[in-house]
Amino acid sequence: MRSIRDIPLFENIPILVRTALNVPIENGKVVNDYRLRRAVPTITFLSERGAKVILISHIGEKGTETLEPIARALGKLIPRVSFFSETIGERARGAVRNLAPGSVLVLENLRRDKGEVTNDRAFAKELAALADIFVQDSFDTCHRPHASIIGVPKLLPNYAGLLLEEEVEELSRSLTPKHPALAVIGGAKFSTKEAVLTALLKTYDHVFVGGALANDFLKASGHEVGKSLVSEANEENIKKILANPKLVVPIDSIVIPATNTEEMRMRTGARIANIGEIQPNEVILDHGPETSALLKSLAQKTKTILWNGPLGNYEHGFTDATDAFAHTVADSGARSVIGGGDTIAAIETLNLLPRFSFISTGGGAMLDLLAKGTLPGIDVLSY
Ligand code: ADP
Ligand code: 3PG
Ligand code: MG
Repeated sequence: MRSIRDIPLFENIPILVRTALNVPIENGKVVNDYRLRRAVPTITFLSERGAKVILISHIGEKGTETLEPIARALGKLIPRVSFFSETIGERARGAVRNLAPGSVLVLENLRRDKGEVTNDRAFAKELAALADIFVQDSFDTCHRPHASIIGVPKLLPNYAGLLLEEEVEELSRSLTPKHPALAVIGGAKFSTKEAVLTALLKTYDHVFVGGALANDFLKASGHEVGKSLVSEANEENIKKILANPKLVVPIDSIVIPATNTEEMRMRTGARIANIGEIQPNEVILDHGPETSALLKSLAQKTKTILWNGPLGNYEHGFTDATDAFAHTVADSGARSVIGGGDTIAAIETLNLLPRFSFISTGGGAMLDLLAKGTLPGIDVLSY
């Protein structure tokens, strides 16, 4: 990948930046600007050199949402940000022409046009017509074969932004970790984690599975998991991974009776159960203190820790395992890399983020990069 540091000329050049402005919004307000703050260095680098910076991003999945409130939030972090309510076409090109050197224009949600997700060639051409240079900085979306990810870079001279460079460098380092190395994969849905588990078992010394993901492994090894969340995955595939001696699973859980969701919210009736003692009418929502202690002892002996996926149902208050492990990682002295939208959300309020070595802005993109070593949006950038 060529870096934005290699761009020969900046002054008054329109530069199209695919960035990640997809942050959570509630009632028209940005509730968490973490990704915006990570987008700033590339934008500032280009605007300080006098480029006309044109930002494109998606927000949400449906294509109905607007980037307008996000442009406003970005305007609180950096100067000279404006918003234009269209993405492509003559009026959008006009807005770009009118941009003063060094100013920043946010165009409307890419996914308002179906062509973004289908990687429509005409849509990619329209995007490319907005600028002279393309910069990819939306690492979190580089696993998706969309127009702004794999279409536009083929039509313009392209460069990697500072965030993308950092993500690739840090996560690539995690592919060849210093040993002993511990990987912790939680969250849910075996199908989204299978490839990364298989890859990590080749390079890491211990791979711990937690969260709802662990339920699949407990079930496959013949344990009762009651009414816990399990994936609709092929049990043979789970058993193949389970057979690897590097795999570590929880030894105790926090369970509640599966009678109603109110109990879940209140945590009433929650008890600690060893694996093997869980009842058919119970639900696992977190792992227990013995498992946290096991993870702590592994983490203390390790030089590298990689973590993706909450270790419990944190949205409903089952945060003990996740919080305990966050503290364990922060105190460990190991090189620590964490990522995943839910993972960051689950631990952000603990104020521990500055104590991790690297925080990835990617969820699916991080997992895919770790599983395959590259991503479609990276492969397409020229060397
Ligand atoms: P990330 O976004 O960090 O990659 P995932 O999307 O894979 O993480 O998983 C997050 C989800 O997993 C959360 O909604 C969390 O509640 C859920 N989860 C974790 N442990 C459990 C559990 N024991 N039971 C139910 N859901 C769980
Ligand atoms: C997307 O829409 O794909 C997101 O930007 C990537 O984040 P996620 O994989 O964690 O949802
Ligand atoms: Mg998630």
